[in-house]
Amino acid sequence: MMVASAGAVRRVFLQDVAMRDGLQAEGVFVPTDDKVAFVDALSATGLAKIEVTSFTSPRAIPMLADADEVMRRIARVPGVEYTVLVPNVRGVERALAAPPDEFNLVMSCSETHNLANLRMTRERSVVQLLEVMRLSAEARVPVNVSLSCSFGCPMEGDVPSGEVLDFAETFIDAGARGVTLCDTTGMAYPSQVAVLCTDYRRRFPGAMLTLHVHNTRGMGLANALAALQAGVDRFDASLGGLGGCPYAPGATGNVCTEDLAHMLLLEGCSIGADLPALLDCARRLGALVGHELPGQLVKAGRRLDLHPVPPSVAQSRARAGAP
Ligand code: COA
Ligand code: ZN
Repeated sequence: MMVASAGAVRRVFLQDVAMRDGLQAEGVFVPTDDKVAFVDALSATGLAKIEVTSFTSPRAIPMLADADEVMRRIARVPGVEYTVLVPNVRGVERALAAPPDEFNLVMSCSETHNLANLRMTRERSVVQLLEVMRLSAEARVPVNVSLSCSFGCPMEGDVPSGEVLDFAETFIDAGARGVTLCDTTGMAYPSQVAVLCTDYRRRFPGAMLTLHVHNTRGMGLANALAALQAGVDRFDASLGGLGGCPYAPGATGNVCTEDLAHMLLLEGCSIGADLPALLDCARRLGALVGHELPGQLVKAGRRLDLHPVPPSVAQSRARAGAP
C-alpha cells in the first residue's frame, strides 16, 4: 500500500497517552518528580501532543492524584500540545490553575461502561461535559472529546455506530474541535474501523478525528493502518504499549507509540517525532514502572537494524572464496 509518494509526504500526528492511559492502571505510584522528568523527556522527542495526566477523582484514579503539581511543573516546549483528561466540572476547575493547551473530555458510548467508569449516566455526562465546554470556552482552551467504547463495550457488546456519531455531533455542534474514537478494550477490527472513520469524516469534514486503539486482541496496528487508509491522520498511542482503563474488564495497553511510529515511517508518513528518541523513552518507561512492557520494537530493533553475520557463516563463505 502506498499512502504517500516522494514529494507528497503525508503528515501524521502522534499523541502519546502513556502518562495518562498508561499510568492510570499501574499498581505502584510513580513519584511526581519522575512523572515531570518523563514528560520533559517526551517533549524532546518531537511528538505532536502529550496527554500529561487526568483531573479525575483521586479516589477513582490514585495514580494520577498529583495532576495539579505535574501540570504546574512540566516545561512546555513550543510546538508540543499538552492535553489533560477531564470527566466533569470539578476536573476543569482544578485544571485551570495551570491551563493545558487542550481539555480532553471523556465519556463512554456504552451506558454500562459510563456508569462503571464515571459513575453517571451518559445523559448526565453530556450535561456535565457541555458545562465543561462552556468553562473551557471562557478560558479559551480548546476541547477534544474522547468517546470510550466507540467500537464495542466489554459488558454490552456492540455499540451502534449511529449512536457514536450522534454523540460526536452533540459535542462538535457545541464547539469541540475534534473527537477521539476510542477502542477502550481492543474490540475493534480493521473493516469496522475503516467504516466508522470514513462515516465520521464524511459527516464532520471540518472536525479533527483521532483514533485511540488498544492492542488487547493483537489488532492495534492493523486497526491503525485501516484508519490511515481511511484518511485518519491523528493517533493516540502509548510508549511501550502501557495502558488500560481500570474500569473496563480485561483492558490492556494501547497500541505502542514506537511500534506505530516505525510502521508509519515505513509507510512513507512524516511523523515529526524521532524514532530513536522514542525508543530511549520507552526503555526508560519500563524502568519507571518496574516491569517489562509489551512494545515489540524495543526488543526486536528496527526492521533494518541488522545483526552480525554468525561466525560459522563467515567461515564457510571464506572457505568458498565468496565475497
Ligand atoms: N477531581 C478531584 N476530585 C473530584 C473530581 C475531580 N475531577 N470529581 C469529583 N471529585 C470528588 C468530589 O469532590 C467528592 O469528594 P468528597 O467526597 O471529598 O466530597 C468525590 O470526588 C465524589 O464526587 P462525585 O461528584 O460524587 O463523584 P463520583 O464519586 O460519582 O465520581 C468521577 C465521578 C467522574 C469524578 C469519578 O468516577 C472519576 O474520576 N472517574 C474517572 C475514571 C477514569 O479516569 N477512568 C479512566 C479513564 S477513561
Ligand atoms: Zn484508552
